[in-house]
Amino acid sequence: MTEDLRRDVEETAVYTKEEIHREVARMGAAISRDYAGRNPLLISVLKGAFVFMADLVREITIPCELDFMAVSSYGSGTESSGRVRILKDLDTNIEGRHVIIVEDVLDSGVTLSKLITMLQSRGAASLAVCTMFDKPARRRAQVDVAYRGLTIPDAFVVGYGLDYAEKYRNLPDLCVLKPEVYTK
Ligand code: IMP
Ligand code: MG
Repeated sequence: MTEDLRRDVEETAVYTKEEIHREVARMGAAISRDYAGRNPLLISVLKGAFVFMADLVREITIPCELDFMAVSSYGSGTESSGRVRILKDLDTNIEGRHVIIVEDVLDSGVTLSKLITMLQSRGAASLAVCTMFDKPARRRAQVDVAYRGLTIPDAFVVGYGLDYAEKYRNLPDLCVLKPEVYTK
């Protein structure tokens, strides 16, 4: 199956699964050190971050909890000033909790900055962002990132949880999608 997926992406990966896992291990160790004794709550935004979340929690050596949210940007695709619409809310009350938002890729930052404002209003004791990939070229909203994985170029990438039209999430490497796939 992986062979079929590989046909649609450029041959050289942006980052291989080995390169990705090295960074995940580094971030997991940093979180374990920084949050010792604080039982952090890791919150990830579905669906893209589910692969990163699964790998990250297994590199964290201290007790922690996790929860998931699903959101969509409010309004049309071209409108950037919309609110975050919650499709699936948290099961956990985050009041007084040390929250770490786990993201797949920080792109414009618009969705994430709205989410941060919303979670802050719920009374978290602290709030930090951990992102696997950072695409700084297209940033429109400023977001403070406590744990940053790998920087990626301004290209449409898939794999390691990231999709194009719900496909390619299961590709273990991060790859650039061939333009003919989305122009055909
Ligand atoms: P933004 O930071 O509000 O623009 O939203 C970032 C979200 O857009 C990410 O969480 C991904 O779900 C999605 N995204 C951004 N860039 C890519 C990409 O290159 N491939 C796949 N999904 C992407
Ligand atoms: Mg996402």
